Amino acid sequence: MAKILDGKAISAEIRAELKSRVSELKEKGIVPGLAVLLVGDDPASRSYVTAKERACEEAGIYSREVKLPATASLNEILDVVQQFNADDQINGILVQLPLPDSSMEESVIEAIDPDKDVDGFHPMNVGRMMMGLPAFLPCTPHGILQILKRSGIETSGAHVVVIGRSNIVGRPMLNLLSQKSELGNATVTMCHTRTKNMAEYTRQADIVIAAVGWPNTLTADMIKPGAVVIDVGVNRIPDDSKKSGFRLVGDVDFEAVSEKASAITPVPGGVGPMTITMLLVNTVESAVRRHGVE
Ligand code: GUN
Repeated sequence: MAKILDGKAISAEIRAELKSRVSELKEKGIVPGLAVLLVGDDPASRSYVTAKERACEEAGIYSREVKLPATASLNEILDVVQQFNADDQINGILVQLPLPDSSMEESVIEAIDPDKDVDGFHPMNVGRMMMGLPAFLPCTPHGILQILKRSGIETSGAHVVVIGRSNIVGRPMLNLLSQKSELGNATVTMCHTRTKNMAEYTRQADIVIAAVGWPNTLTADMIKPGAVVIDVGVNRIPDDSKKSGFRLVGDVDFEAVSEKASAITPVPGGVGPMTITMLLVNTVESAVRRHGVE
């Protein structure tokens, strides 16, 4: 039976460290601030945004939310981003994705001041990350590296298979793991929807990271015994026994895979809380940089 990599517990550890950092900053008159823009009313996005705001409050970080209707024009969205850019109280800007009109995402991300881009989505931060320069790292890959580090899982020399090629998770994950750095030095293979015979690759992996968005994508026959499995999926599936009418499952067949793996992240309570935690870390880091404090 695999060890459960408890993202909630690791998050709590990092958030406690962060809380004392925020108190120290407050003594210097600095309050880190995060601004969130939510366009439309997708229920999953709404619940992520609420979780992010609650986490800010617990950490002592100021947060502000602006909501726009799903019909908002690109200019209306850009206006809000520009207000956030100009606001000294705001150190971090988060535009919840996906936008109702996903063709706007590129322009919106490029409008965010790279020094406030705590999601690490702006091309400037993506480029800096790629080159191994200081940059805001995207929260989910950053959180996964912290889970591995704080669980004593060595990436150096390991073969990691990343399933999924999104700009938010798969691609930055591949890049960070392959870097010549403390949390990198892995040999990385990327699989995606056009990969032929995916199991051939995943069976060779010491660590499998599934970021696909489809339940049961990674099954027990696809891993080698003792592999470490990181499940990034957050999929809602109908469940009449729940008040909400659904439950959350990842991309991994948890029950069977956890019998064969040496360690695995659960859903919920694995990668999800870490993503939010790294957003807080980036926001505090942004405030520290802005004010030039040690
Ligand atoms: N949608 C899914 N994940 C994320 C994230 O990390 N940041 C933003 N802004 N939107 C998301």
